Amino acid sequence: MERSPDEAKWKDVVGVVDFHSHILPGIDDGSKNIQMTEQMLRQGAAQGIDTFVATPHFYPERVSIERFLRRREEAFELTVPVAQSCGIRLFRGAEVALCPGLGRGEGIEQVCVVGTNLMLVEMPFRPWTSRDLKELEYLLDRDIQPIMAHLERFIPIQPKKYIEEILDLPVYVQLNAECFLQWRTRGKPLKLLREGRAHLLGSDCHNLTNRKVNLAQGRQVVERKLGRSYLREIDRLGDELLAGVGTEMAQQNTAW
Ligand SMILES: [Fe+2]
Repeated sequence: MERSPDEAKWKDVVGVVDFHSHILPGIDDGSKNIQMTEQMLRQGAAQGIDTFVATPHFYPERVSIERFLRRREEAFELTVPVAQSCGIRLFRGAEVALCPGLGRGEGIEQVCVVGTNLMLVEMPFRPWTSRDLKELEYLLDRDIQPIMAHLERFIPIQPKKYIEEILDLPVYVQLNAECFLQWRTRGKPLKLLREGRAHLLGSDCHNLTNRKVNLAQGRQVVERKLGRSYLREIDRLGDELLAGVGTEMAQQNTAW
């Protein structure tokens, strides 16, 4: 189907962002080496992704921020030329494991997406407590903007009241593309998108096999079930959130 002039214009100015990826090599359980990273980037480019936010796991209880940042920097520097050759913009972030004390942790803003106040936060897989939610409030209090990583994974395993409490906080909710690929798991995520209570998508890609870049497949389902306007809004928001990273300072912190 041919795009209307409006849609063509929109496509020209707004890109497709993968907000959750383990694409940097050798830093976590994601890409094993730069060759794998290159193939993942090429898969992403072939799917129409033009921006990856690299979000390696950061476990504040296991490793210092300094060590994490040092290792991420090395992996990022190795990846930047490869990403550029694929026409991909790369941002540095982290998937930050929520733990007691995170919200008031010293220097924790350093693991926000570089050039922004956005922090991809992974809730614990053990049963949540009200203290966990308090940590999110502490982050908000210091102007850190949480993005809740793959919230759909917690919906079946955590008390509904906590899920609802999170959805009522001024946080962004990220969903993994994978949840849309099976009818068993797509119902609630589609409902969250329809209600405007989920906002961003990611592939959460780790490798080339069982956890590969699959953003396009997930987006196709969203488009089929909800309509193209929902993808447009997701892309518009992604663009807006990363647009601030166009300032002189921030430019030094991205691949471009
Ligand atoms: Fe992840």
